[in-house]
Amino acid sequence: MTSYFFSFEGPDGAGKTTIISMVESFLREQGWDVVATREPGGIEIAEKIRDIILNPAHQAMDGRTEALLYAAARRQHLVEKVIPALKDGKIVLCDRFIDSSLAYQGFARGLGVDEVLGINQFAIEGYFPTLTLYFDIEPKIGLERIYGNEKREINRLDLESLSFHENVRKGYLQLMERFPERIVMLDASREVADVFADAISILMGKLEKNMP
Ligand code: TYD
Repeated sequence: MTSYFFSFEGPDGAGKTTIISMVESFLREQGWDVVATREPGGIEIAEKIRDIILNPAHQAMDGRTEALLYAAARRQHLVEKVIPALKDGKIVLCDRFIDSSLAYQGFARGLGVDEVLGINQFAIEGYFPTLTLYFDIEPKIGLERIYGNEKREINRLDLESLSFHENVRKGYLQLMERFPERIVMLDASREVADVFADAISILMGKLEKNMP
């Protein structure tokens, strides 16, 4: 059975969460069976790990602890939610996956991209996404969007410095060079409708050979 595992990545405030919900509705209307989910979280155990990681009070958290907790949340979410959906032939849309750990913990935190890749390979056992959409935005603009959105919670990672977020972006740009077959970049500084149109055309390029 053909299944599709699409991940959505980018610096904070890139707008990927908005686009994912639009993509989800669009694909459903086209007759696809879709599961939209997010990391860290998506299932009870991983949501609990998420609360520990992102709690702004946890300033003492060590970088390696953080990386291991993300990998643990990823593992549980993959096993409980992503793999069963893929086995049922569903399209999985995942808001963040392994590349977030590589860009945030590996690159921006300075733990080393290869080291963080190592613990994540242990966690994912080969379940790399079919395709990853990377929403590129200057962190300054992304953070302004977050602070301008009263509904969005401000988490521990959002509170990092601008230079941390600039390093996150640099990390993603390096990942694009490392995984050119898998990661496709979109300019997320544009209007939502334009970013959405690009996302759909890239995804349909993958899906059209197997229309429902
Ligand atoms: P979230 O509120 O979901 O942010 P967003 O809507 O931007 O995805 O918070 C997730 C935060 O966790 C975000 O700042 C990115 C960070 N993160 C990592 O540092 N490593 C990871 O592996 C993952 C999945 C997320």
